[in-house]
Amino acid sequence: MAKKHVVAAAASSSFVHLHRLCYFLLALYALTSLSLIYFTWCSVPHCADGVATSSAAAIHYNRPINLLSLGSAWNHLRFSASPPPRRLKIALFVKKWPQGALAGGLERHAMTLYLALRGHELHVFTTSPNSSSAAPGGTRDDGNIHLSRPTAAGNLDQSQAWEQFHAQNSTGRAFDVVYSKSVAIFHGRARRIPNLAVSWHGIAYETIHSDIVHELLRAKAEARQAMLAEKVARVVEEVRFFPSYSHHIATSDHVGDVLKRVYMIPDERVHVIINGADEKVFKPDATRGREIKMEVGVPEDAGMVIGMAGRLVKDKGHPIMFDALRQLFEEDESFQRGVVVLVAGDGPWSDRYSDLGPNVMVLGPLERERLAEFYNALDVFVNPTLRAQGLDNTFLEAMLAGVPVMGTRFASVAGSLIKDGEVGYTFSPTVASLKGALRRAWEDAGRRELRKRGEAARTRALELFTATKMAAAYERLFLCISQTQPKEDKNDYCMYPLRWDEQRGGGSSG
Ligand SMILES: *[C@@H]1O[C@H](CO)[C@@H](O)[C@H](O)[C@H]1NC(C)=O
Ligand SMILES: *[C@@H]1O[C@H](CO)[C@@H](O)[C@H](O)[C@H]1NC(C)=O
Repeated sequence: MAKKHVVAAAASSSFVHLHRLCYFLLALYALTSLSLIYFTWCSVPHCADGVATSSAAAIHYNRPINLLSLGSAWNHLRFSASPPPRRLKIALFVKKWPQGALAGGLERHAMTLYLALRGHELHVFTTSPNSSSAAPGGTRDDGNIHLSRPTAAGNLDQSQAWEQFHAQNSTGRAFDVVYSKSVAIFHGRARRIPNLAVSWHGIAYETIHSDIVHELLRAKAEARQAMLAEKVARVVEEVRFFPSYSHHIATSDHVGDVLKRVYMIPDERVHVIINGADEKVFKPDATRGREIKMEVGVPEDAGMVIGMAGRLVKDKGHPIMFDALRQLFEEDESFQRGVVVLVAGDGPWSDRYSDLGPNVMVLGPLERERLAEFYNALDVFVNPTLRAQGLDNTFLEAMLAGVPVMGTRFASVAGSLIKDGEVGYTFSPTVASLKGALRRAWEDAGRRELRKRGEAARTRALELFTATKMAAAYERLFLCISQTQPKEDKNDYCMYPLRWDEQRGGGSSG
C-alpha cells in the first residue's frame, strides 16, 4: 500500500496534491469525530459536574480509583457479592431498634443493613424498647444486641452504651469500625475515634427547605413554624460539630454536596451511599397484585390504581394530596370514573381520605411482607412528602416492585431517585403541580408508557438501590477506613476495583 503511494506520488505532482488533500480531510474528519464523541459524552448528565465526571470515567474505563475521593454515589459501582477475605468486628450505634410494623425509616435502614451485612461480627448498641416484648424485631445468629435504658429525652444513654461498648472492645478483638446512625454517638465522644463513620438521614440544612414549603402552604389560621432564625442557628451548630466525626455517609447525592460545600467537610471524609431496600422481599409479583386488588374490592375496569404508604400525617404531604384528589375527582369525570386510590398506613389523614368517596380505600398499616405485596397492586406509587430531609424507603420499595413512582421535587428525591419521565413523575409541593403530575400519569395509564416507566424503575432500583448493594458499599467503606498500614491481607480496600470485584463481578442484581 505504502509502496503504491510512493509510486503514484512519483508519477504525478497533481496526484501529490490530491494526496495531501486526502490527508487533510482525514485529519479534519478525525478532529470532528473526536469532538462529536466529546459532545455525545458531555450531553450525558454526569458531565455537568466535574467530580461526577471523573468517577464515571473511572467506572467506564476501569481505571483504579480511590474510593475516598469518589464524588458520586458508591451505588454506581459494582462490588463483589461474595464476602471479603477480611471479617470485621463492627459496632453499630442506633437510637432505636425496630419494633414491628411501626418502625421509622432510620430504624428500618439500620435493620436492613444489619441483616444484609452477613459474615461480620456485628454488635448493635441501642435502647431497650419500653414494652414487654423486649426481643428485637429481627435476628441474626452472629449478631449481638446490647440494650440500655433510654434517657429521658429518648436518646441512647451515652455512658451506659459506652460501658457496654468498652466491655466488647476489650474482649477478644477490638472493633475494626464504629458506625453511628446520625447522632447516636454524641460528637463529644465521636471526636476521638478515627475509624468511625456516621450516616445522616436528614440534616438541618434540608429542614429549612421543608420549612419554606410548610410556610407557603400554611393556612392563615395556623401557627407559624419554628422561627427561621432558630433553624439557621441549628445549621450553624451542625456545621460546627459535624467535623468531630471522622467519616460521613450521605444518603443522597445532594446531601453529599451540602456536607462538602456548606458544612465544609473535606471531600475524602464524605461518602455518598444511597439507601437500599431488601430486594428479596420487594419484587414484582403480578399474581399477588391481582389477588390484593380483588381482596380489597378494586373494580375490574379500574383504569389506574394509585397507591400511598407510610404515616398519614401533614408532614408527609397528605393535605396537598387530599386537595389534589378532591379537585381532580370533581373536575375530571374520566379521572373520577377510572382512578382508584389505595392508602396503606395510618394517622390523622386516614379518616379524611375515606371522606373522598368510594374511589379511595384506606387499608390501615401493613406489615412488611404485606406491604411488599401491596405495591404489586399499583399502577403508580405516590409519596407526596413535604420533608426535604432524608429519603423515604417507600420509593425504593415501590421501584423494586416495578412500580413507577411519583415524588416531590426535592433535591434528594429528584437528584438521586426519580428521573422525571423515566422512572416516574416529580412535582413541586403545591396542589396545582401535584394535580399536573397525577394528570400526566392518568394520560399514560393504559398505554405502554406507564408500564415502561415501571420497568425502568425496577431496572434502576436493581442496579442501585438493593439492600445487597447498600451493604456491599458500607462493607467496603468499613474495610477501607479500618485498614492499617501495612495492609493486613495485601488488599487496599480504599481502591476500586480490586481483582476480587472484577472476578466475581455483579453484586448489582438480586
Ligand atoms: C415504661 O413502661 C413502664 C411499665 O410498663 C411504665 O410504667 C413507664 O411509664 C414507661 N415509660 C415510658 C417512658 O413510657
Ligand atoms: C478499642 O480498643 C482498641 C485496642 O485496645 C483501642 O486502640 C481503641 O482505642 C478502642 N476503641 C475506642 C473507641 O475506645
